[in-house]
Amino acid sequence: MKKKILVTGAGGYIGRVLVEKLLKNNYAVRAVDRFFFGEYDAIAQNLELIQEDSRKLEPEHFQNVYAVIDLVAISNDPASEYFEKPTLEINANSRIATANLAKEAGVQRYILPSSASIYGFSEEISDENSKANPLTVYSKANELAEQGVLPLASDNFVVTVMRQATVYGYSPRMRFDLAINGMTYGCYIDKVLPLMRDGKQHRPMVHIQDTTNVMLKLLEFDAAKINGEIFNVGSEANNFRIDELAERIITIVEPFVSEKIKIDWYGDPDHRSYQLNFNKIESTLNWKAKYSLEDGVKEIVEALRDKRIEKTDNTLTLKWYKELVEWHKIIKNVEKYGGILDIE
Ligand SMILES: NC(=O)c1ccc[n+]([C@@H]2O[C@H](COP(=O)([O-])OP(=O)(O)OC[C@H]3O[C@@H](n4cnc5c(N)ncnc54)[C@H](O)[C@@H]3O)[C@@H](O)[C@H]2O)c1
Repeated sequence: MKKKILVTGAGGYIGRVLVEKLLKNNYAVRAVDRFFFGEYDAIAQNLELIQEDSRKLEPEHFQNVYAVIDLVAISNDPASEYFEKPTLEINANSRIATANLAKEAGVQRYILPSSASIYGFSEEISDENSKANPLTVYSKANELAEQGVLPLASDNFVVTVMRQATVYGYSPRMRFDLAINGMTYGCYIDKVLPLMRDGKQHRPMVHIQDTTNVMLKLLEFDAAKINGEIFNVGSEANNFRIDELAERIITIVEPFVSEKIKIDWYGDPDHRSYQLNFNKIESTLNWKAKYSLEDGVKEIVEALRDKRIEKTDNTLTLKWYKELVEWHKIIKNVEKYGGILDIE
């Protein structure tokens, strides 16, 4: 029998890549999501899709599940500031409830994909023992989730927290509100790279294939080494200062467009700045990030060129959630007998 993994937020940017990888690696997947960003195109074998809200999960969702990877979230700072109450409910409370339900149902492992943004601002290089300094609703919710799930670790329930750097690279559910993805899009399509002021902020990055590889590794790794532990996920080579990152992306993309790419500064100075130390994940898991900035930028350029992805409102987290809320109001007002023009 294949081991079953329950993935929340399975229809999201990371979720889509993770689920594919789990299926390839001989797991069965129970994919839970509201599918705010769209359904899966095709049903695969060993994949069970459950359209449910993470705040409404019940004990039966956890039956026969070996491990939970709890990706669900309102997934960036601006969306979390705008939707503060649901962010705290989903990103913190629902994940704590999910971990509790999982433990009660006899699930063996629980992975919380948290965020390195929890370090907020730090001039030092932060490791897992550095004090968290969450500056936004999003990072505070992640801290609350970590604090709620870690004490559940026991001999029979392995809990691990991943503090992921900002993710980049191709996913079939693309996000262009992530730094490298957005900059790459700007360079390739608009020939203008949008750069958040003042560019001196440091930000660690991790490729989507690397962070999902860590999730797979944690599913089977020696429990004694990872239970109740927090890991920064990324690599020294991917600790960037934003203005230097921008220059490097321009250098990678310019040969594809044979045109000079300009920089367009925007926003108020970003106060979030942190650099991470990755010694713990590298030594404990014997793992090293394999993918480079160049890999990620080139695969996005190629996917744009081949029209496998495009930038629509659906790829911009805050914009999309705002639109859904607006349409909901409009549709509720005009819907009658279960329809708009076609009625039952
Ligand atoms: N992408 C990054 O750079 C990054 C970095 C660090 C941490 N993370 C964390 O990794 C996780 C996944 O991020 P992502 O980039 O895939 O985000 P995403 O927004 O693409 O995916 C989140 C998914 O959760 C679903 N969802 C939201 N609320 C829900 C609810 N109440 N019930 C059920 N489903 C719901 C959405 O439909 C979406 O498919 C998040 O927890 C995020 O905070 C992401």
